[in-house]
Amino acid sequence: MGIRVKPLHPHIGAEIGGVDLRQPVPPETFAEIEAALNQHAMLVFPAQLLIDEQQVAFSRLFGPLETSPDFAGSKKTRIRHREVEDISNLDSDGRVMSADDSRLLFNRGNQLWHTDSSFKHVPARCSLLSAHEIPPTGGETEFADLRAAYDALSEATKRKIDGLVAEHSILHSRTKIGFREFNKEIQSALPPVPQIIVRTHPGSGRKSLYLASHASHIIGWPVEEGRKLIEELIAFATEPRFVYQHRWRVGDLVIWDNRCTMHRGCAYDDTKYRRDMHRTTVSDEINSVERERGRESVA
Ligand code: OGA
Ligand code: MN
Repeated sequence: MGIRVKPLHPHIGAEIGGVDLRQPVPPETFAEIEAALNQHAMLVFPAQLLIDEQQVAFSRLFGPLETSPDFAGSKKTRIRHREVEDISNLDSDGRVMSADDSRLLFNRGNQLWHTDSSFKHVPARCSLLSAHEIPPTGGETEFADLRAAYDALSEATKRKIDGLVAEHSILHSRTKIGFREFNKEIQSALPPVPQIIVRTHPGSGRKSLYLASHASHIIGWPVEEGRKLIEELIAFATEPRFVYQHRWRVGDLVIWDNRCTMHRGCAYDDTKYRRDMHRTTVSDEINSVERERGRESVA
């Protein structure tokens, strides 16, 4: 029996039925899921209620998983699995963080449009997010299709941006929101990296923008000019016509393709309501510039 695919938006997102992700997914079913992801860039699997082990097993079908970093300097974690990142406003005892907890501020960086791990030399291919607890209001997640946005650019803009490389850094996106508590290890482990701004999406063969709040400036351009271009492209690519907003239900498992989308969390009252999401992140194979230019290595 095949999966059911119901598109949610003209460009991005589809709801998937007819598969239980708590069970091992047979290769032919996985091939259908992968094809749907390549086409729709973001998939919603309702009512899955996965435990971490099940989410990790399903995620591994897409490729090797990232292990969760300790950006905000919290040693104790709520989640035991190193492949599962804690996307919540809960402290290690499972209580809503206090308003002065630096992790709360760090997590609010997810409310800027971004694509996951573009600040790493090898960024993320796709991410999977499972909803364990959701607030009664707010806390949606928005997704923008950067292939549709690329298609809609003027020919002059397409020519202007072809081949440009941006410098991405987690320090850049977090500094924007006023987070300054990066420790030395994180700073030296995560130096700025180059990422191409127009890439060919391997899953569909379509051209796509590749942008994020982590993108700081264009390499070889005056910083302010590059920053302005990146801001203009992000504003264009996130116009409502390219965006699907997902309103979460407990048990949803959502997967998105980081190579051709951006996403952001919507605000909610994070010092009052609980929001508990678990993320697994599938690594891409190589740096985006290397992929686009045929594996010639970049600094
Ligand atoms: C993420 C992310 C946004 C959200 O998990 O990568 O950006 O709405 N999440 O939680
Ligand atoms: Mn993210």
